[in-house]
Amino acid sequence: MKLQRLVYSVLTITFFVSVGFSIYFFSQARASDARILKADTNNSPIPRYHFALIGEELEHDYWELVGQGAKDTEEEYEIAIEYEGPRRSNPEEQRKLLDMAIKSKVDGIIVQAVNNSFLPLINKAVDQGIPVITIDTDAAKSKRFTYIGTDNYEAGRLAGEELIEQTNGSATVGIVTGSFDNAHHQLRVQGFQDVIEQKSDISIVAIEESSITQVIAEEKAQNMLTKYPDLNALYGTSTHDATGMAEAAESLGRSNDLYIIGFDTLEENLQLLKQNKVDALIEQEPYAMGNRSIDLMMDIMENKEVKDVYHTDTSVVTKADLSVINE
Ligand code: BGC
Repeated sequence: MKLQRLVYSVLTITFFVSVGFSIYFFSQARASDARILKADTNNSPIPRYHFALIGEELEHDYWELVGQGAKDTEEEYEIAIEYEGPRRSNPEEQRKLLDMAIKSKVDGIIVQAVNNSFLPLINKAVDQGIPVITIDTDAAKSKRFTYIGTDNYEAGRLAGEELIEQTNGSATVGIVTGSFDNAHHQLRVQGFQDVIEQKSDISIVAIEESSITQVIAEEKAQNMLTKYPDLNALYGTSTHDATGMAEAAESLGRSNDLYIIGFDTLEENLQLLKQNKVDALIEQEPYAMGNRSIDLMMDIMENKEVKDVYHTDTSVVTKADLSVINE
């Protein structure tokens, strides 16, 4: 009798446990079906291509605009873009990201070719059948398919011409450049020097490197202003240089008697322009660079011919331009 009751109990427990499991798995299956159905009705097609876009500083406003320009094409072309970059300027890390993109066999790579050390990796990608477009900074000697971005040499010339005009052709100038190593900064300095050298009343007394940081730009500008008291104009080639130079001028009480020209019309620099702490900015087109780089990559995917170089616009922006825009 006892044994019979035990058997009944075991059977009853087993019955309820199995019913419990059945209900659980049934509801799980329903939920999974619903998820599949939702994904299906989302109408999100599988991307036709995966591209990697690798810039200098992931969270920098400038690169975020480049990234946004590229990502805004995803839907139109049914593609996926991985926007990547080191948190702070770090060419070694940037090269690692490039290498990883090659290893993960993306369909195309858009990369800022900071300096010559990027050449072997760009060539490796192309040799493995991955087309590469350089952006913002070119590596013309590599196997890249095309370049899209500022004509950095001409941008330097533009800054030089503006400085000559605004200082009436007479000035003692200090330069703070992002990096002596980086191709675009070298070109921006070269273009500037070539224009300035034609003017006998303008001399460049110092060129310092900011390592693409505002703090070092400020420190270098301060040292220059202290060492050369007659220095009355500053030229900076990266976004951070303009901000750093303006800080240095302010802390030495020189904001009013210094002419400062820098790069990029990003919010922080525009504020300095409004407050007369910076006199002019060279405007680049980061959004257009990112956006058009994808049009070009799609042309490459479709075996269409692309030109060797596509230059985006640059222009000089002063406070007067801002009031025109705001009216
Ligand atoms: C340059 C970029 C750079 C950014 C921030 C821009 O002027 O074109 O290459 O990453 O400044 O330094």
